[in-house]
Amino acid sequence: MDNKHQLLFAALVLFCEAERQYFFYSNVSTWDQARLHCQICYKDMVSLTSDNIQLLVNNLSHDYWIGLRKSLDNNSLQWSSWSNGDPVIFQNWYPGRPILSPPKDPVINNYNTYILPTPTPTPTPSACGCCCDTPSSPTTFYNDNYTDYPNATVNVNLLSTTSATTRSTEVTTSNPTMGTTLFTGVTAPSNESNHTVTDGYIADPCIAMLSCGLWYERVCTMLLPYICYEDRFYGNANISGVTLHNASLSWASGPADINDYRVEVKAKYYSRNVTHSSLNYTNLTYQLSNLTAGTLYSIQVFPIKCERDLNPENVSFYTKPDIINNLKITDISLNSISLSWLPPNGNCDFYSVQVTGGPDETIQVNNSYVVVANLTSGGLYRFDVNAEVKDQSIKGAPQNISKYTKPGIVQNLTVHSHTNDTVWIEWKPPVGNTSGYRIEYFVDSNIRTHSTTKTTNFLVNGLPQGTMIHFTVFSLVADLSVDGDPQELTGLTNPGSVTDLQLEPQNTTITVTWKAPTGKYSNFTVQVNLTDTGEQEFLGNTNNLSSIVSNLKPGVQYTVSVITLNGDLLSEPRKQTVYTYPTSPESLQIVSFNQSQVSIKWKPPSASGNVPLTYSVTASSYFINCTKTELYPYQTKNTNHTFAGLTTGTKYEFNVSVQAGSLASLPITISQTTAPEIKVLIMTLECASNISLHCEDDTVKKSVKEQLSQYLHGSLQDFKIWNVILIPS
Ligand SMILES: *[C@@H]1O[C@H](CO)[C@@H](O)[C@H](O)[C@H]1NC(C)=O
Ligand SMILES: *[C@@H]1O[C@H](CO)[C@@H](O)[C@H](O)[C@H]1NC(C)=O
Ligand SMILES: *[C@@H]1O[C@H](CO)[C@@H](O)[C@H](O)[C@H]1NC(C)=O
Ligand SMILES: *[C@@H]1O[C@H](CO)[C@@H](O)[C@H](O)[C@H]1NC(C)=O
Ligand SMILES: *[C@@H]1O[C@H](CO)[C@@H](O)[C@H](O)[C@H]1NC(C)=O
Ligand SMILES: *[C@@H]1O[C@H](CO)[C@@H](O)[C@H](O)[C@H]1NC(C)=O
Ligand SMILES: *[C@@H]1O[C@H](CO)[C@@H](O)[C@H](O)[C@H]1NC(C)=O
Ligand SMILES: *[C@@H]1O[C@H](CO)[C@@H](O)[C@H](O)[C@H]1NC(C)=O
Ligand SMILES: *[C@@H]1O[C@H](CO)[C@@H](O)[C@H](O)[C@H]1NC(C)=O
Ligand SMILES: *[C@@H]1O[C@H](CO)[C@@H](O)[C@H](O)[C@H]1NC(C)=O
Ligand SMILES: *[C@@H]1O[C@H](CO)[C@@H](O)[C@H](O)[C@H]1NC(C)=O
Ligand SMILES: *[C@@H]1O[C@H](CO)[C@@H](O)[C@H](O)[C@H]1NC(C)=O
Repeated sequence: MDNKHQLLFAALVLFCEAERQYFFYSNVSTWDQARLHCQICYKDMVSLTSDNIQLLVNNLSHDYWIGLRKSLDNNSLQWSSWSNGDPVIFQNWYPGRPILSPPKDPVINNYNTYILPTPTPTPTPSACGCCCDTPSSPTTFYNDNYTDYPNATVNVNLLSTTSATTRSTEVTTSNPTMGTTLFTGVTAPSNESNHTVTDGYIADPCIAMLSCGLWYERVCTMLLPYICYEDRFYGNANISGVTLHNASLSWASGPADINDYRVEVKAKYYSRNVTHSSLNYTNLTYQLSNLTAGTLYSIQVFPIKCERDLNPENVSFYTKPDIINNLKITDISLNSISLSWLPPNGNCDFYSVQVTGGPDETIQVNNSYVVVANLTSGGLYRFDVNAEVKDQSIKGAPQNISKYTKPGIVQNLTVHSHTNDTVWIEWKPPVGNTSGYRIEYFVDSNIRTHSTTKTTNFLVNGLPQGTMIHFTVFSLVADLSVDGDPQELTGLTNPGSVTDLQLEPQNTTITVTWKAPTGKYSNFTVQVNLTDTGEQEFLGNTNNLSSIVSNLKPGVQYTVSVITLNGDLLSEPRKQTVYTYPTSPESLQIVSFNQSQVSIKWKPPSASGNVPLTYSVTASSYFINCTKTELYPYQTKNTNHTFAGLTTGTKYEFNVSVQAGSLASLPITISQTTAPEIKVLIMTLECASNISLHCEDDTVKKSVKEQLSQYLHGSLQDFKIWNVILIPS
């Protein structure tokens, strides 16, 4: 624990102790001149301690005045303090020195033979057995030429405070109000010969350090080089109010006796000294102006003492970078936006691009363009771009620009449904954002129609039938600044129905003709069904406007429908019904008959197969003089019929035909005489002849009977069931 405390204490002492700088003057001077010069231009003459002596000795080439003399001033205790007031706590005398009292026997003194010190650098005692180690301290040394100083500028105040201690020096002030004076030097010592007088007792000696580091008293008027020291000055400069071209510099005042400063402003390719005329000594400030924006400036404020720059107060700063120019969007894609701009006036080291709109991010780029990637398509982004300096201590004012990324392409665009004059399309939203959609469509006329919607479907109506419609769908962003890529789709309206459908039947064929619809079509489907049962008899496609359907059954009602095709699209069917021409039934037979009824049966025409047919049945009888009387017109779906209520013994003709709508087939016919009921018809014939009894003659009778039969036969030829009997009256 104790050790630690000691270490810490030692460190603090070292830290707090100002770094001391030593200045060696090789030009010779009396002790008082040397002290005055040291006090004006430095702190004072050197004072020696065990710490610094070795370092200093290392640099000695001959004797030097140090800041010690027997009586510093009239009041203080002799040998008690250094010229700077430090107590003398360390001594390093040449053996036998100093001689504190005058010799009592001058004869003895005269008798002695001493090697007298020579005026200028003379290592006196040759037996200087110093062996000093090489110093490792950072203490700095300066070798100044004293001749530089006769005309040195020093401060008036400084002179006034030190004038009390000057001895045998002359100082002239040339310009007191400006605060600078000319230090013209010191008068030469009046008595040179006294150096050589004695090596013995000196009443009021000044002390010199021999080159080996030991101390030796000398007559103060002796001309020797000397060593001054000064505590290294540390101060801070500050910068405030930094703008594009201006800044305020302020600094701490230098050591107490300093009143002049030099400000050195440096930047890359730029350097300027500002001297006292521009500086404000009241508050130690300087307004930097005309700076270049975005540039690193290093400022050093040198306190000046005797034309000597002290340790500078340093500060460096960047001026604010200027605003970037001409920020613009150079490219937009689904997921990225490219920006470019022109560099600001002045300098800058890089740029920051702040992206807002998605997850916020800041991108730093060295060039004046950037591609901001990984954005959401159709999203609104804002970019704030500002110039930056290397340490980012100050930012340029940002410029901003906002832009949407390109919205995505709509997905799965399809036709939802269509009729002969509408097409309804639908789609899925694109990946990312979109504010709506624009639909462009055109039919053959090539006139594009535009429409926007927020929904994902669109209905177009009033279209021509059987036409192709070309759709293009774009996704949109709110400000319509950029569209998504187009997605295309072709839709068709249903074709129109045929018109003027005409059917021309034959017994086994139907000739179907129609007129084409307006609009496009590819071909037609003709379908023929039995009307009764719906059974399909024919189905075929054709490019023509007619079709002959054959192999049909005669006498049957068919439904013919014609549908227009256009690609896969179908029109409404156009329908007509028609009967084929009927053909006659077959195998008509009399099944039975009696006096008043006749039953007949027949077979359907074999070509008609099993299709139920309607038959028209009639009976007709012929009577005398061939008058035909139609009886019992009747329609039936059966293939037999019984006629009742017929006249006995009458010959009937029965017709059966196939009835198809208004058409009827040729009938087939069969005759039958109903069973007779025997009746006697008595006719009285009166025979009148010129020849008597001629009527009685058998031959005549026979002739009359034959004539009568002949006559009746002519009238009743079909009535076979009769007989003529002559009965004499
Ligand atoms: C001292 O002055 C001489 C002559 O003017 C010059 O050569 C020498 O470099 C100077 N020394 C210093 C340390 O300035
Ligand atoms: C010092 O001043 C004198 C006259 O004032 C001048 O002749 C001399 O050149 C000056 N010396 C220097 C080093 O400036
Ligand atoms: C040397 O100094 C002494 C007094 O210290 C004086 O009496 C003497 O005259 C001086 N010698 C010369 C040569 O000036
Ligand atoms: C500023 O002054 C210093 C010291 O006098 C000098 O070394 C430097 O070259 C000067 N700079 C300019 C830009 O004048
Ligand atoms: C120096 O600065 C002070 C305070 O900022 C101001 O009042 C004064 O006018 C300035 N003097 C000059 C000469 O600019
Ligand atoms: C100048 O310095 C004085 C004293 O240090 C201070 O009171 C004053 O406010 C300063 N003026 C400015 C403008 O900084
Ligand atoms: C700033 O620079 C311009 C041109 O270099 C010059 O005309 C102007 O006087 C300067 N202003 C200041 C205050 O230095
Ligand atoms: C885009 O994002 C993915 C994952 O978040 C990442 O791996 C990729 O590097 C990013 N691309 C760019 C150009 O930033
Ligand atoms: C688009 O259609 C494909 C295939 O039918 C399907 O896999 C996909 O999920 C659909 N996309 C959307 C967004 O519905
Ligand atoms: C489309 O069909 C309907 C009946 O389905 C019909 O009323 C309309 O006239 C047709 N439109 C056109 C343009 O033919
Ligand atoms: C249909 O009529 C034609 C004459 O027009 C005839 O030759 C043909 O035999 C008839 N077919 C049937 C099944 O009746
Ligand atoms: C009718 O058109 C459809 C669809 O275009 C096609 O598949 C079919 O082969 C065509 N038929 C004829 C007979 O041209």
